[in-house]
Amino acid sequence: MSGVTARAGDAPAISVSGIVKTFGDFRAVDEVSFTVPRGTVFGLLGANGAGKSTLIRMLCGILQPTSGSATVAGLPVATRSDEIKQRIGYMSQLFSLYRDLTVRENIRLFGGIYGLFGSAERERARWALSVARLEDRERTRAGDLSGGYRQRLALACALLHEPAVLFLDEPTSGVDPLARRSFWDLIDSLAAGGTTVLVTTHYLDEAEYCNELAMMHAGRIIATGSPRAIKEEVPEHTVPTMEEVFIALTERAEGVRS
Ligand SMILES: Nc1ncnc2c1ncn2[C@@H]1O[C@H](COP(=O)(O)OP(=O)(O)O)[C@@H](O)[C@H]1O
Ligand SMILES: [Mg+2]
Repeated sequence: MSGVTARAGDAPAISVSGIVKTFGDFRAVDEVSFTVPRGTVFGLLGANGAGKSTLIRMLCGILQPTSGSATVAGLPVATRSDEIKQRIGYMSQLFSLYRDLTVRENIRLFGGIYGLFGSAERERARWALSVARLEDRERTRAGDLSGGYRQRLALACALLHEPAVLFLDEPTSGVDPLARRSFWDLIDSLAAGGTTVLVTTHYLDEAEYCNELAMMHAGRIIATGSPRAIKEEVPEHTVPTMEEVFIALTERAEGVRS
């Protein structure tokens, strides 16, 4: 019936095997291995300096691994990085938008990078604006948006070419708790549509929103598993955090949101 082969569908979206990145004699990423099935929200947790961004840059084909290997969307990162870039979206930690351009203009610019023009660009832009819930902000200058809106615009730009795998490097950093929650709702709906999402954070409460987690420390993975499995290792973490209580009470005060 369909032209899609079962074999392609079964391959993990991301597969990492003993990957290493050294800077001089410093090992920023030290023998990391994991796999991420398609349609999964995979959280990479770790403090500043743990090696998260370095790992993501290797998986996006921006940084060559020192040793080890990885495949992303079925392609090896060491040799097929140009093709990988067509299949992934990357929202870097310091995502850059043009502050003097409007939301719509920023999207058009990104579309051009991916070869989207004319009616194809308009169609993709409409879709990305609706996924990121930015339709009512099209004419707003990026510099005038709140942190939460700016972050959703960066996501819309990363989604324009319908990537199979999305890398989000601390996307919620510096954004208020309510905007963070609504951003995680977006991530959830993307994953439900089959997109694989690898997201880094140092907000430990956000771990709850991931299907699978890897905790990273000093270049190494120190724990992997579902949030529940990882929490069971540390029983006192079943107590809700003040932030979770804050979100619940704020949302109740605002009435039920979608
Ligand atoms: N280009 C580089 N040259 C030298 N050291 C680097 C470079 N990039 C990152 N590092 C170092 O590697 C470690 C991991 O950095 P990074 O991957 O940015 O961690 P994280 O994203 O988890 O905060 C840090 O100690 C950082 O200083
Ligand atoms: Mg980082």
